[in-house]
Amino acid sequence: MDSLSITDNRTGKTYEVPIHYGTFPKYGASIRGADLRNIKVAEDDFGLMSFDPAFVNSASCKSSITFIDGERGILRYRGYPIEQLAEQSNYMEVAYLLVHGELPTKTQYDTWVHAITHHTIVHESMKEVFHGFHYDAHPMTMLISTLAALSSFYPASRNVADPEVRMLQIYRLLGKVITLAAMAFRHTMGLPYVMPDNDLSYVGNFMNMMWRMAECRYTPNPVLERALDVLFILHADHEQNCSANAMRVVASSQCDPYCSAAAAAAALFGPLHGGANEAVLKMLRQIGAKDKVNQFIKDVKERKALLMGFGHRVYKNYDPRAKVIKRLAEEVFEVTGKNPLIELAVELERIALQDDYFVSRKLFPNVDFYSGIIYEAMGMPSEYFTVVFAVPRMSGWLAQWQELILDPDQKIARPRQVYTGVAIRDFEPIEKRQAK
Ligand code: CMC
Repeated sequence: MDSLSITDNRTGKTYEVPIHYGTFPKYGASIRGADLRNIKVAEDDFGLMSFDPAFVNSASCKSSITFIDGERGILRYRGYPIEQLAEQSNYMEVAYLLVHGELPTKTQYDTWVHAITHHTIVHESMKEVFHGFHYDAHPMTMLISTLAALSSFYPASRNVADPEVRMLQIYRLLGKVITLAAMAFRHTMGLPYVMPDNDLSYVGNFMNMMWRMAECRYTPNPVLERALDVLFILHADHEQNCSANAMRVVASSQCDPYCSAAAAAAALFGPLHGGANEAVLKMLRQIGAKDKVNQFIKDVKERKALLMGFGHRVYKNYDPRAKVIKRLAEEVFEVTGKNPLIELAVELERIALQDDYFVSRKLFPNVDFYSGIIYEAMGMPSEYFTVVFAVPRMSGWLAQWQELILDPDQKIARPRQVYTGVAIRDFEPIEKRQAK
């Protein structure tokens, strides 16, 4: 076995630490953090820890779901390149692939779609939960809260050790997330909620619940339906990102999947993660015109602003999802008409990619740079974009959850800390205290 020899210069002792590998030795070489604990100055010493705020170089799990090569801009689900899935597959098939590890046969696919389709209806009381929100509540706050509220309808879901119970919750969460997301949209718009239509595709049904007005039957535009389906494929999973990590951390306490998914959605809400798509639109509006782009880039370089939709912890090359989305935008505009913000975004990208600040830091457009422009062209308000990211990410969160539950290496997530506070002091009664 390959190993690392570590010499502790405090004691002169040398330790052999085994090196472990994943599928690709180049990207998966690691040592176990716990092996460092043997490195001590004295017998009663706690042992050495690794200090890694924000997990910039720590693997929290072994995973066989998603592979990213950030240097080369490669993304694969279960080994399949994202470009092939976006071109040839559909979101329901990809969700099956993520959860089960293999693409479905025709029979498996039909059973899967049927089960998810027949779990789209939510309890009538959920309408009351929505009615409790203020008229201008952010749709993500409604989605996060109602995902957690599902837990109160399904207390048996707490039995996370039972594979049948887990699969039932997977069907429910994939089915109901489109309904809750659409209800959040209708609440924002002040429109009555729409029942699911089981004859439509998963994405078509989502469009129906968002956009059906007085017509008897909603018929989704096939170009927009396919575009949204491709966007769902691109957003389905992205290995150990902030929200997947939140899903795993919360679920590691054996919490039910509804509360864990609510925690994951909350992590997604932030502007540095899935909230970036909303932030990109605000940024483009603030810039306003092509001749203001240079001034904005100057502000970014002076650290007065962030170029939202740019940069990534893992990708140090063009995000492969952004390439597909940029192409998809043209197809959507054929139907919806051009979103004028696209020209501003393309100009911003062109100038940024020629600038040494971005080039030297390997900052490229990520998935959120162009997606919001498409959502807006389709008629969604910018506050809603992160909800449209959360809907397909549900399959990724659930795949990560399953893997966590089945992984014998996993325990409750509980990091260590390096304590830097006062060592010890005596309590003082309040009348004797001085302000510090
Ligand atoms: N604009 C300007 N400078 C940036 C940006 C940006 N968008 N992103 C990174 N940098 C700079 C950063 O200031 C740092 O410079 P220096 O080394 O001189 O201090 C350097 O690039 C490295 O960045 P970092 O902040 O150490 O990188 P990180 O891995 O901690 O953060 C990130 C990754 C995605 C949070 C960050 O790039 C960012 O804030 N981007 C804008 C928000 C965004 O688009 N988020 C969506 C991410 S992709 C989809 C998703 O995850 O949901």
